[in-house]
Amino acid sequence: AVTRTFSIIKPDATRRNLTGAVIKMLEEAGLRVVASKRIHMSREQAEGFYAVHKERPFFGELVDFMMSEPVVVQVLEGEDAVKRNRDIMGATNPAEAEPGTIRKEHALSIGENTVHGSDSEENAKIEIDFFFNEDEIVG
Ligand code: CMP
Repeated sequence: AVTRTFSIIKPDATRRNLTGAVIKMLEEAGLRVVASKRIHMSREQAEGFYAVHKERPFFGELVDFMMSEPVVVQVLEGEDAVKRNRDIMGATNPAEAEPGTIRKEHALSIGENTVHGSDSEENAKIEIDFFFNEDEIVG
């Protein structure tokens, strides 16, 4: 089925002018960008978005990183979009990512790993709603 997922192009990528390179890989993987905005996350947004990780030792570092430079938040649409996006992103740790994936090609480290993508359909809906109103999504 055609479904939606949520994506963030992270600060390490916007800083290195890789926004277009990342979107090209998403599009070539069969995903369509149906909503997109470049934002500089506030602390409230970064902490709220990653609230599920707030007990993790890297939470502070993660929040600081996500606020360090602009990001591009996007809604992606396609056949089985959550899985398709996770496949093209590659493993969280770029050292473990398959060749040809976004993180293998572009990520710097497990923290500076170029992209975020929802891990389930349920979280995709929550994450899309965190950043977008329905009228901002144009399929
Ligand atoms: P993301 O998919 O955005 O969701 C949580 C993020 O935490 C994850 O990608 C990683 O970038 C980050 N993360 C996971 N493990 C670590 C770690 N050990 N140190 C720093 N950041 C991490």
